[in-house]
Amino acid sequence: MAGRILFGILLTSAILAVALPAAAQSDVSGFWVLNVPTGDGNIMKTFFDLKQSGQQVSGDAYLRGRKYAISDGSLSSGKLHMAVVLSKEHPERKVIYDGDFDGTKLSLKVNYFNRPITRAEGERSTPEAMAPPAEIPPPALHDVADNGLALTPPMGWNSWNKFAGRVDDVTVRTMADAMVSSGMRDVGYIYINIDDTWEGPRDAQGNITGNTKFPNMKGLADYVHYKGLKIGIYSSPGPQTCAGYEGTYGHEVQDAKTYAAWGFDYLKYDWCSAGRIYKNDDLQAVYQKMGEALLASGRPIVFSLCEYGLGDVWKWGPKVGANLWRTTGDINDTWKRMEEIGFKQFDIAQYTQAGHWNDPDMLEIGNGGMTADEYRTHMSLWSLLAAPLLAGNDLRTMSDETKSILMNTEVIAIDQDPEAHPVKKISEQGPIVIASRQLMHQTWAVGLFNRGDATAKVSVNWKDLGLHGKLQVRDLWQHKDLGRIADQFSADVPSHGVVLITVKH
Ligand code: GLA
Repeated sequence: MAGRILFGILLTSAILAVALPAAAQSDVSGFWVLNVPTGDGNIMKTFFDLKQSGQQVSGDAYLRGRKYAISDGSLSSGKLHMAVVLSKEHPERKVIYDGDFDGTKLSLKVNYFNRPITRAEGERSTPEAMAPPAEIPPPALHDVADNGLALTPPMGWNSWNKFAGRVDDVTVRTMADAMVSSGMRDVGYIYINIDDTWEGPRDAQGNITGNTKFPNMKGLADYVHYKGLKIGIYSSPGPQTCAGYEGTYGHEVQDAKTYAAWGFDYLKYDWCSAGRIYKNDDLQAVYQKMGEALLASGRPIVFSLCEYGLGDVWKWGPKVGANLWRTTGDINDTWKRMEEIGFKQFDIAQYTQAGHWNDPDMLEIGNGGMTADEYRTHMSLWSLLAAPLLAGNDLRTMSDETKSILMNTEVIAIDQDPEAHPVKKISEQGPIVIASRQLMHQTWAVGLFNRGDATAKVSVNWKDLGLHGKLQVRDLWQHKDLGRIADQFSADVPSHGVVLITVKH
């Protein structure tokens, strides 16, 4: 009897010993890391916190320092499927993971909405593996010396709006070629700025390198200089950039020296993952560190802060040696986003001064998502605001209309006016906004904007500008003198459009 019981126990435990691990292994619940190759020599880690219930898989994905809910997750016969929507506003921006789970490892096809499909391997991990590095205490505050650069708002091109992660050495070189051949250089567009995703790993000495898309940063800078242009680079004060690439955290002096040695003339420094380590109260000190490092590099480098308007940056930007600072979140190529950003800028306009500018983000002109009237509004508004004019389109394939907007020298002259008077909102009535800015030679620029859905007649009284009598009026989009006009000016302004004039005695 006892023998039979013992045999029974042994048999049961033998079955359990075989069955239990198999049952545990077929459950994908738990914490995972997936090593995703980006196709440019980097491996980007994505973490998953998964819960399985029957064939359903739910939980969270952590990528680029953010947490996203997993939608549409399932596991059946060892085949795992998951989707991660990266943008609520643009649900098509998603990553789809498909592949095998063999009990201990993941082997998944990763389909990023905007990248070639890659294969990635995953293994079990812990939440500690994705914790940011320990905080390096920010320095005590003091004022960084003015670098004397960007006495008018920077003008140039930046890779992000059009190319995002698809930018490479050839794209940048050919963009420099197009900047010259299109005539843009000659009307003031000078900076060719590489945004995120150029970064490779650090070498044994901790020096940052370009990735396989950017094999020769010094050679690239030399090429851009040889075209009579200047070149810009991008990084983050955090350990990773917004696209998850290597950031500058703890390497400020070293990276500034590297940029200088390569010959870079401009740095956009993007908060991104620094927000996982520091509080908004630390913004000034963290940016101050890089402002000083750039000065110490010995090369004149324009310092562009990108912190989405956090921490009232316009109040302290100049103190960290910044030449410009972002005042908003990211623009996109829609009327809705562009007008939302652009018309919100008037209240902080008084913080602009020669060498130190509000930056409502880069231009979308020519990217195809807005009408010509809307792009003329974009260009007119950014110029009245004395915003940086950083084209964000493909300069190699511009239509004549796009060129006529980006290269309207009369509008550019407003942006670049050396007296740097701030723009003023004269009035706002429903969808109609009138803004003016004093320019040199006792001239005033006036923008009559119509944010509404139908053409509107818009009038401005000279007395509202502090002027009177008969004034000479010139239309800057029609390139036409309209003669001397007394007391007030009226024009039909198309829906989402602008009439931009200058007036003088
Ligand atoms: C942030 C910035 C953008 C761009 C991307 C790059 O979103 O605001 O301008 O630099 O990062 O990842």
